[in-house]
Amino acid sequence: MNASLLLRRCQLIAQEASGQTVDIAIAAGQIMAIAPTLEISAPIELDIGGQLVSAPFVESHIHLDSALTAGQPRWNLSGTLFEGIEIWRDRKADLTIEDVKTRAIQALKQQASLGVLFVRSHADVSEPSLSALKGLLAVREAVKDWMTLQVVAFPQDGLYGSETNAALMEESLKLGADAVGGIPHYELTREDGVRSVHKIFELAQKYDRLIDIHCDEIDDPQSRFLEVVAACAIRSGLGPRVTASHTTAFGSYNDAYALKLMGILQRAQLNFIANPLINITLQGRTDTYPKRRGVTRVKELWQSGLNVSLGHDCIQDPWYSLGTGNLLAVAEMAVHVCQMTGQDEIDACFDMVTSHGARTLNLQADYGIAEGQPANLIVLDARSRYEAILNRATVKYVISRGQVLVETAPPAVTWHGE
Ligand code: FE2
Repeated sequence: MNASLLLRRCQLIAQEASGQTVDIAIAAGQIMAIAPTLEISAPIELDIGGQLVSAPFVESHIHLDSALTAGQPRWNLSGTLFEGIEIWRDRKADLTIEDVKTRAIQALKQQASLGVLFVRSHADVSEPSLSALKGLLAVREAVKDWMTLQVVAFPQDGLYGSETNAALMEESLKLGADAVGGIPHYELTREDGVRSVHKIFELAQKYDRLIDIHCDEIDDPQSRFLEVVAACAIRSGLGPRVTASHTTAFGSYNDAYALKLMGILQRAQLNFIANPLINITLQGRTDTYPKRRGVTRVKELWQSGLNVSLGHDCIQDPWYSLGTGNLLAVAEMAVHVCQMTGQDEIDACFDMVTSHGARTLNLQADYGIAEGQPANLIVLDARSRYEAILNRATVKYVISRGQVLVETAPPAVTWHGE
């Protein structure tokens, strides 16, 4: 078979330490061959010049239904999670499928241009119209030729926040949501929260779906739904198909409880997603000083061998008015907030927005740079993961399904001084 695209002198992460490069040949949307030197030609040949070629960024946690709505209908003045939920409740009153589709595709194009080709988005399923879910399911179909999108049915107002919400969740799964979501710490009582977690596992088994729960996204050290999620994962055996998102209260637990919990989590083998840009901003708002960071124990979870990925969570919405969708900004924030400043820790933060995210999304064989894999890869203006985070490197080429989807020139600096 003839190659359609040839990348010369690529630095793969696996050979970062040695500095050895490889050529990568692509044909029919797949990686055809990888070798130090390929004696073939192709209609398009790119000399990568020893720069880093990685599997694409994976956005493991975002809310595309609310993306690009900052200030609508009003600004979040307290900056808290709960005022954000109130504002979103007003904004979503006039949500339409078209409104969701337009903004979500705009946000996805923005992320794809920054090297993101796999995304898991939550869709609020607390409204009887299910406009957010229907919109995002339509987007999943519309972008499938260049982007893989997973949609989580997310009961923003609580699975038991109203009498209809549990039925709306089940309807969402019948419509085709990829995962069951939840928000146990926002339910009316602790009992409702526990009941919601059990219901989520029951539905996931009934419809054979993944699970991704907004879990303990609060500074309250008594918010302990993570242990309930872990216990359900252990008893059901679903661990690797289950994700606990945010778990910010874990950062406020006393160390004796945290140590006990860590043992349970290792048995459960859940995935974890931290969203450092958003949680450093939302949490700790009721603290004076010292003021908590409000981020889960990323370093300790990672050191325990558990799968941790990082998400952007919000792009210009009621919870976070900033954000461009750049996962290198997320990784850079994690380095700071989670004190992941060692060389291997910085590399791990890059992995948390790439391969670890792929594991969270259960992408398995669809992800990674190897012969026979789908040809999804990115070329960074950097020679290593460290340089990529250091410089928030430009993603020069985004290659999706074997085609160059986006090309971006790094900024050119001209020095006019002495
Ligand atoms: Fe979230």
